Amino acid sequence: MRKLPASSIPIPALLPMSSASTQRVLTGVTTTGILHLGNYVGAIRPAIAASREPGIESFFFLADYHALIKCDDPARIERSRMQIAATWLAAGLDPQRVVFYRQSDIPEIPELTWLLTCVTSKGQMNRAHAYKGAVDANVAAGEDPDAGITMGLYSYPILMAADILMFNAHRVPVGKDQIQHIEMARDVAQRFNHLFGEHFVLPEANVEPEMELLPGLDGRKMSKSYDNSVPLFEGGEKALREAIARVVTDSKLPGEPKEPEGSTLIALFDPFATAEERAAFRAELRAGLGWGDAKQRLFEQVNRHIGPMRARYDTLMAHPEQLEEILQQGAQRARAIAAPFLATLREAVGLRRFQPLAAAAAPVAKVKAALPVFKQYREADGQFYFKLSAADGRVLLQSQAFAGGRDAGEWVKRLKTEGAAALAGAPVAKGEGVADSELADALAALVAAEAA
Ligand code: TRP
Repeated sequence: MRKLPASSIPIPALLPMSSASTQRVLTGVTTTGILHLGNYVGAIRPAIAASREPGIESFFFLADYHALIKCDDPARIERSRMQIAATWLAAGLDPQRVVFYRQSDIPEIPELTWLLTCVTSKGQMNRAHAYKGAVDANVAAGEDPDAGITMGLYSYPILMAADILMFNAHRVPVGKDQIQHIEMARDVAQRFNHLFGEHFVLPEANVEPEMELLPGLDGRKMSKSYDNSVPLFEGGEKALREAIARVVTDSKLPGEPKEPEGSTLIALFDPFATAEERAAFRAELRAGLGWGDAKQRLFEQVNRHIGPMRARYDTLMAHPEQLEEILQQGAQRARAIAAPFLATLREAVGLRRFQPLAAAAAPVAKVKAALPVFKQYREADGQFYFKLSAADGRVLLQSQAFAGGRDAGEWVKRLKTEGAAALAGAPVAKGEGVADSELADALAALVAAEAA
């Protein structure tokens, strides 16, 4: 391979990348509760399949620090992290291929969380869905808005950002409910990069379309909280059979033709069947197969698929020392990346080994602060708008709609020449979490540049 001159290597050498073309995929599972059939079809199976693709470097971890936010029962935490570790391994995760670890075995993660906490705006955390949901519920119940809300819940997205940024993941497969967290991780990464240099890759959410594929027994989304889930391994064959017996069907009798499309039974069957098996099952239902027999068929189909995994699961659960060993090795591999990277980050923020200050200060020529920018644009509604963005991309000011582009332009001009003095009557709103002083400084910088 031709050797590139150092200056044209696209990825800063500091990033712990194994190769510029390798895509890092990282995802975590909060270790409360146990995994159900929907988790398997929607998350575990596609993640393991993806980890076998060439050019992909996968990081899977047990988010046990996150579990502490939701659960204060030590026995449940202990049980769940072991069960979830065994589940992933039994389902085919190859710990040689995937870096598989417990979040709580990587002390660099909470340390990075603090570095990120210091550059995360509180206003943004106020808008996190999980926190906002808890506040709304309190208000609805006539309680103090923050009743029962811990700092753990409040800072949840920052810990999650650290999980992702610690390993410079490119892609993060998650459910829809987690998209906001990935966006927050991007924002925090951007802020850190802006302040301290390009250290972090900006991660992207990979929303698994299959995530919602599997319905629960009653046809709603499969969820522990609806009590409609099918256990994956726990409870053995018996629990699987009993759950399937509870699948809701219509009241058609054996012999009556049944419409397979849209039935919960079929939706549970399909992910475990080949195209031919799917077609055959549908034909039998249309020909009048009784629901009882159909459930037996469904049980056999699912069990054929997960039975061998269940056997591996039971073996692993009987040998916690093997699980422990696998995860310790995973932690070692993860820390081999995290520790040097964190050392770089500590250096970047100024947590450095003492040295003569003059020598240290000399090479750090302060980069000239980039100016904020006004942008005028037209929306799909045909109206004209403008906004003022800080150099790091945050919106400082957002205009209302204007019927004509000229009016928008006039205001931009006034703000650029008069600065904050023009704000009084301007049809604009401040960006969320933006301080008056920051806005005033930004406008003053533009006025000065305009005058220069
Ligand atoms: N918050 C995620 C969930 O509840 C779990 C999680 C924690 C995670 N850290 C992560 C997922 C980092 C992806 C990447 O599902």
